[in-house]
Amino acid sequence: MEQTLILLFTTVMLFVAPGVNADLSFAANQQFNITRTGCAVTKLCVSTPDSCDPAGNGVCLFGSVNAGTPSPPNGNQMAFELSGNSSGFIALGLIANASVGTSMLFVCAQNSSGSFFFQTQTRNNTDNTLTSLNRTVTQIQGKVNGSSIQCGFTVPNLNASNTRSASDTTFIIILGSGTVNGNSLGNFTASLTTGPLNLANLTSNTSTTAAPSSGTNLHSHAVLLLLSVLTLSFLKAA
Ligand SMILES: *[C@@H]1O[C@H](CO)[C@@H](O)[C@H](O)[C@H]1NC(C)=O
Ligand SMILES: *[C@@H]1O[C@H](CO)[C@@H](O)[C@H](O)[C@H]1NC(C)=O
Ligand SMILES: *[C@@H]1O[C@H](CO)[C@@H](O)[C@H](O)[C@H]1NC(C)=O
Ligand SMILES: *[C@@H]1O[C@H](CO)[C@@H](O)[C@H](O)[C@H]1NC(C)=O
Ligand SMILES: *[C@@H]1O[C@H](CO)[C@@H](O)[C@H](O)[C@H]1NC(C)=O
Ligand SMILES: *[C@@H]1O[C@H](CO)[C@@H](O)[C@H](O)[C@H]1NC(C)=O
Ligand SMILES: *[C@@H]1O[C@H](CO)[C@@H](O)[C@H](O)[C@H]1NC(C)=O
Ligand SMILES: *[C@@H]1O[C@H](CO)[C@@H](O)[C@H](O)[C@H]1NC(C)=O
Ligand SMILES: *[C@@H]1O[C@H](CO)[C@@H](O)[C@H](O)[C@H]1NC(C)=O
Ligand SMILES: *[C@@H]1O[C@H](CO)[C@@H](O)[C@H](O)[C@H]1NC(C)=O
Ligand SMILES: *[C@@H]1O[C@H](CO)[C@@H](O)[C@H](O)[C@H]1NC(C)=O
Repeated sequence: MEQTLILLFTTVMLFVAPGVNADLSFAANQQFNITRTGCAVTKLCVSTPDSCDPAGNGVCLFGSVNAGTPSPPNGNQMAFELSGNSSGFIALGLIANASVGTSMLFVCAQNSSGSFFFQTQTRNNTDNTLTSLNRTVTQIQGKVNGSSIQCGFTVPNLNASNTRSASDTTFIIILGSGTVNGNSLGNFTASLTTGPLNLANLTSNTSTTAAPSSGTNLHSHAVLLLLSVLTLSFLKAA
């Protein structure tokens, strides 16, 4: 029975790069939809174009986060949604501290066969290059339909601060996309870079500003170190 279901849902099989400590117990539930329902009420939403609808027919790059309850000193467990159009990958990035110069990038992707896969990467904010990141992510869900990629994932122990005084839920959110060649990620292009947002404040998105829409990728010099990516594949949990 499980095998039958797996064959029926080949486009939503999950592939997780080495280094992603993924708990795939939620992978069996592909019946999720990403909508604006709950924005500013149960989740903080950011998107480009502004206020676009991820459930609509237009092109819309959308991210949301529910910051959960802080559990010091272990940070916050945050649940994310990400939706967009790409024949390669879409990604949500978090910058905890701009002076560190990198962001954590959570990547939802499809290969040329339309199979979903998930990766975590470190992005150099200066030159946009990506390197593999070992970060625990749980409850990964993903689905692909044509150019549409939608995913959900939960990141435990997020803490933007290494000081007691600073806000530990304040991150800059980046939304962007890129190409996939085989199992490797191509250059990342950011489409939206917010100002610092308190992710625990469901209406803090009002201060978002769009990144320049062109030119970003021209400055990147991606040296992709991810030569062996998909060594592990996980079928749905029974
Ligand atoms: C990833 O990190 C975890 C704990 O932080 C560690 O146990 C594991 O060995 C690491 N995996 C890789 C591939 O580095
Ligand atoms: C998601 O949307 C599809 C199509 O609109 C609908 O059939 C399905 O019931 C929805 N699933 C959930 C969990 O809301
Ligand atoms: C912030 O989210 C609210 C609620 O969804 C939305 O109405 C508003 O347009 C969003 N603001 C921006 C700048 O995205
Ligand atoms: C983008 O994805 C949406 C579904 O989220 C789909 O309806 C739409 O046709 C796609 N747009 C393009 C240009 O592929
Ligand atoms: C975040 O880290 C700082 C410094 O280690 C600590 O003081 C603070 O309690 C942490 N916050 C949470 C929610 O764990
Ligand atoms: C895409 O991934 C699926 C599942 O691993 C695999 O069967 C297929 O060969 C891959 N396609 C390409 C072009 O890599
Ligand atoms: C980011 O890239 C720039 C230019 O290649 C380099 O000078 C810098 O050291 C890199 N930063 C990090 C944190 O790796
Ligand atoms: C895939 O997208 C097409 C049009 O964008 C839509 O008609 C179809 O219902 C979608 N399929 C699923 C399984 O959501
Ligand atoms: C940001 O990083 C710098 C340099 O590592 C550090 O001095 C500063 O305390 C950090 N800020 C926060 C809010 O953690
Ligand atoms: C949440 O963010 C909005 C927009 O920046 C701000 O007006 C509001 O005061 C914030 N609420 C809290 C409780 O910090
Ligand atoms: C990635 O960016 C570099 C530097 O701008 C460029 O040389 C390379 O062709 C780009 N790769 C792709 C696949 O676009």
